[in-house]
Amino acid sequence: MLAAKLCTSAMSPMRLMIGLSVILFIFGISFFGTIMRQYRYETLTPLQVNRPYNRTQDAAGGAYLDDPTELLWRLWRPMVHGITEKTYRAADGKDYHLPDGDQIWTEPLGKKVLILDTDSRFAHEAGNLLNQTRLLRSEVEKKTAGRLTHMVYAGIHGYDYRFVRVPDFKDRHGTWTKVPVIREAAREYDVVVFLDADAGFVNMNLPLEWLLNYWKMTKDTSLALAKDPDSEHNQDSKGLVLLNTGFIIAQKNDRTQEILQELEDCPNDERWEGCSKWKFDWAHEQRAFGEYIRYDYNKTTDILALKYPEANGPVGSFVRHDWFKKRDPLEDMQNSFMDMLVTRTHMHFHEQLKHYYTDLGHMQHPLSDVEI
Ligand SMILES: *[C@@H]1O[C@H](CO)[C@@H](O)[C@H](O)[C@H]1NC(C)=O
Ligand SMILES: *[C@@H]1O[C@H](CO)[C@@H](O)[C@H](O)[C@H]1NC(C)=O
Ligand SMILES: *[C@@H]1O[C@H](CO)[C@@H](O)[C@H](O)[C@H]1NC(C)=O
Repeated sequence: MLAAKLCTSAMSPMRLMIGLSVILFIFGISFFGTIMRQYRYETLTPLQVNRPYNRTQDAAGGAYLDDPTELLWRLWRPMVHGITEKTYRAADGKDYHLPDGDQIWTEPLGKKVLILDTDSRFAHEAGNLLNQTRLLRSEVEKKTAGRLTHMVYAGIHGYDYRFVRVPDFKDRHGTWTKVPVIREAAREYDVVVFLDADAGFVNMNLPLEWLLNYWKMTKDTSLALAKDPDSEHNQDSKGLVLLNTGFIIAQKNDRTQEILQELEDCPNDERWEGCSKWKFDWAHEQRAFGEYIRYDYNKTTDILALKYPEANGPVGSFVRHDWFKKRDPLEDMQNSFMDMLVTRTHMHFHEQLKHYYTDLGHMQHPLSDVEI
């Protein structure tokens, strides 16, 4: 009764209010829509998931027998290098040694590590990773081979692997999109390893933990990036060689969040004037990082700069980055698989030597009553 009375008495101003709110709301929506279109922050069409491959479960309906991650891990396992093993003989024939004394990383990190791929370009034509038709070796795109190799590397060492599709940010070049994704991932995983599609681990059997020891990455280091070759083309305005953002190790800590957030916000020119230039000008976020971020985040635990060419370049010893797109990552992938299979089958022959090998060298013609 009271409510009805209040309602009738407040009728006309209330209607006015509602009317105004509706108009404002419509205005708001269309303005918001314009902004969204302006910056192209629209939602992307998700990939329709159809399963072209069926998985085979064991008779009891339990484990998947053909889980390649599990299979590859088993195949590679006997050849995986120890995390604290002093010396590693790399594919280039050189010996690399861990620093003397106690090692920082002694236990496998497993799923605390994420090997991360991102892309703002959505390609699902033949040969691309997101195409769901059975993939033929003859059709594999370079990026696909690169990413499959990342996934395999993660599988061998028990790390997690994720491929994240990011919308294009209209106000900046596509290479910037990796920054917020790495930042978000580093809230979840202890160690995030971001790799460009044309970058990858050269030695599939060498665990990340060994490399962290080798590079003396402490448990409270925020980021590690590799130096570019020192040429004029690769220097910032003060003449210091840039760090390449094609390979980034980010550890979960507050400082990492801050650094990556500052990098992401850099082009708004609030903290560093002139940073907006690198929204589209090459080398984008890499230049912003080199020009501003690293100067202000200069604690020894902030940014670890890895030596060239250990973690960068077409001849990288541990991480290869094929800037000139000259290599064939599919060939690299095939070679690493074949190397592993050759060693493993040879290993198997020796493990089963008693069965596979009969030595009659101590006998002479005529052979009789010989047990083969
Ligand atoms: C996968 O299994 C489903 C249901 O059992 C079947 O309809 C489909 O044809 C299978 N697909 C392939 C590629 O074998
Ligand atoms: C996926 O690849 C197949 C060939 O492997 C091709 O026929 C098909 O058109 C591709 N799908 C899309 C969406 O491009
Ligand atoms: C280190 O960074 C701080 C800001 O975080 C800055 O004030 C200082 O000048 C920097 N030191 C050098 C040597 O660049």
